Amino acid sequence: MNSKERIDFLRKELERHNHSYYVLDNPLVSDFEFDKLMLELTNLEDENPEFKDDLSPTQKVGGVVVDSFKTVDHKYPMLSLSNTYNEEELQDFDDRIKKLIDIPFQYVCELKFDGASISLTYVNGKLQQALTRGDGTKGDDVTENVKTIRGLPLNLKGNYPKEFEIRGEILITKKDFKKLNEQKIEKKEKPFSNPRNTASGSLKMHDTKEVRNRFLDCFLYHMLGENLPTKEHFSNLEKVKSWGLKVSDTTELKPDIIGVINYVNYWDTARYDLPFEIDGIVIKVNNTDLQEELGFTSKFPRWAISYKFKAEQVSTKLNQITYQVGRTGAITPVANLEPVLLAGTTVKRASLHNADQIAKLDIREGDIVFVEKGGEIIPKVVGVELKKRDLFSQPTNFITHCPECKTELFRREGDVKHYCLNSENCNPQIVGKFDHFIGRKAMDIDGLGVETIELLVKENLISNISDLYLLKKEHLLPLERMAEKSSDNLINGIESSKKIPFERLLFALGIRFVGETVAKKLANHYTTIDNLMESNFENLLEVEEIGDKIAESVVSYFSQEKNKVLIEKLKNHNLSFVAEEKKKNISDKLEGMAIVVSGVFTQYSRNELKQLIEKHGGKNVSSISKKTTFVLAGENMGPSKKEKAESFGVPLVSEEEFINKIS
Ligand code: IVH
Repeated sequence: MNSKERIDFLRKELERHNHSYYVLDNPLVSDFEFDKLMLELTNLEDENPEFKDDLSPTQKVGGVVVDSFKTVDHKYPMLSLSNTYNEEELQDFDDRIKKLIDIPFQYVCELKFDGASISLTYVNGKLQQALTRGDGTKGDDVTENVKTIRGLPLNLKGNYPKEFEIRGEILITKKDFKKLNEQKIEKKEKPFSNPRNTASGSLKMHDTKEVRNRFLDCFLYHMLGENLPTKEHFSNLEKVKSWGLKVSDTTELKPDIIGVINYVNYWDTARYDLPFEIDGIVIKVNNTDLQEELGFTSKFPRWAISYKFKAEQVSTKLNQITYQVGRTGAITPVANLEPVLLAGTTVKRASLHNADQIAKLDIREGDIVFVEKGGEIIPKVVGVELKKRDLFSQPTNFITHCPECKTELFRREGDVKHYCLNSENCNPQIVGKFDHFIGRKAMDIDGLGVETIELLVKENLISNISDLYLLKKEHLLPLERMAEKSSDNLINGIESSKKIPFERLLFALGIRFVGETVAKKLANHYTTIDNLMESNFENLLEVEEIGDKIAESVVSYFSQEKNKVLIEKLKNHNLSFVAEEKKKNISDKLEGMAIVVSGVFTQYSRNELKQLIEKHGGKNVSSISKKTTFVLAGENMGPSKKEKAESFGVPLVSEEEFINKIS
């Protein structure tokens, strides 16, 4: 055997041992034996640098220093899942799916690993890239760090597709987490708060040697791509396993929602015996064609959902109730607590939501309350330990006037929140609106933060958003902490915000319920602010993903004089109220047509068809109404949709007819 042959042999042997030890949990050799083989390979590679390979098992040891992580676009967005908390909500999920699909289907149940999500790309069986979730559309390239994970193969075995993406969760086991914290305590350092934060923090470390010492582990659960090996998620995971990747053995196929509920109930208690933490169960429709047919809402897949286990609870004393005013004037009562440790972090404040919640739970100052960390990051008070209540305690009277500007509060019928309507003169509302407007996802104004806004408001330099565009350097220079350079920065930042695209400006306006995604949809649909301002409730409902609540809020926003004046002023400052010209269409054969796509197709995917509709001048709409031009109907289109189309006299067009129409 020459050196090259010995190197190849050792690499294969070490990969096999890594897999047996870390994936199958079934070591074939002693640690001593393993280390001996590794040392031999390291020496041979050092002696023969021409055979160096970035994906050799020796590279897992680390030693690379990464200066900064490159941001990379995800090929497919990394979405999160909508949550359920009880059996009833699981039933609702099942009902929703059955309304859309009228053929039998199965569910796959999986553990919801509590770690940091990761997206891996393998090309020709070699790990090519690992991206964090980031904001869902782009993530950080942490390939070098991920390479150090012991149970993650850098080279696959068996019959894998040429290129594919696979998603999973990076975590630290309970045992390794304990070990890490023992090391910390020994070094007299502050221990880590919980395995999840430690795992995601470790992924962003710059020295791969240090990452290696964090004992990261990785479970894979979602294969994506155009060339999936089978049409079933469960079988795809079996394949993934056969290529050497780690898939949990706890994943199970269930014939119906009853099976799902049994699985959930089993793991609700059995989870404490698992070697790692989970925070729930993920339920997915097995068949990938059906997954495609069910599609996505703007945020979540319709074909999967998570069930969250009840969160950890602690009790502590509620010292005082204070009230916060948000940018919309909504008042949120806040519990100021005796600091307490909850799920690894110290909690001092918790949300009390609204007056009804305080009354329902009869929460009073001085009470011993139960605090819980749910899906949201902010903890909430969920109950009172009545037995410990002080005899002289008094029921809570919700404030009647704004704590900031003293205006009398108002509560709309049917609304759970109290509002301060003095939006023009109430300080936190003014500052909050500016803060939203300048945010990174909105106008992204460099050199401006909350503190500066507070200062500018205090000095009466700004009170309305459009005032920002009247600011001059000479206004800023006399202010505290404002030097030549910071003033220049701010003025330049404001100036360049004029070029921010229409969709982000629309989001920045802070219209209730118009988040990033909705703003994008509205900007694409109406293309100019004038068109949007002329729209009405019915018209808005025709836009994909826009429902009653959003439509009502948009109409109400543009009906208010003060908002019309604001838009006019911003227009005069040359902000972009017109969507950038869209890429030229292929044709206008579908001009003016409102089309619903439904069912499963053979030649194109649903998304491709939707893109074709737009490229030929048509508009995609999500539900059938009398204004729908036609339904592009594939196989398995639900009977209720068919009936609806018939009742409105909307024709059904097959994939073939559609292709003829546009060619
Ligand atoms: S599936 C579109 N499966 O939970 C499908 N996610 O709230 C999306 N997670 O971002 C993911 N275990 O980080 C899926 N078995 C599992 C999971 C899982 C944990 C995480 C993941 C995701 C989040 C969704």
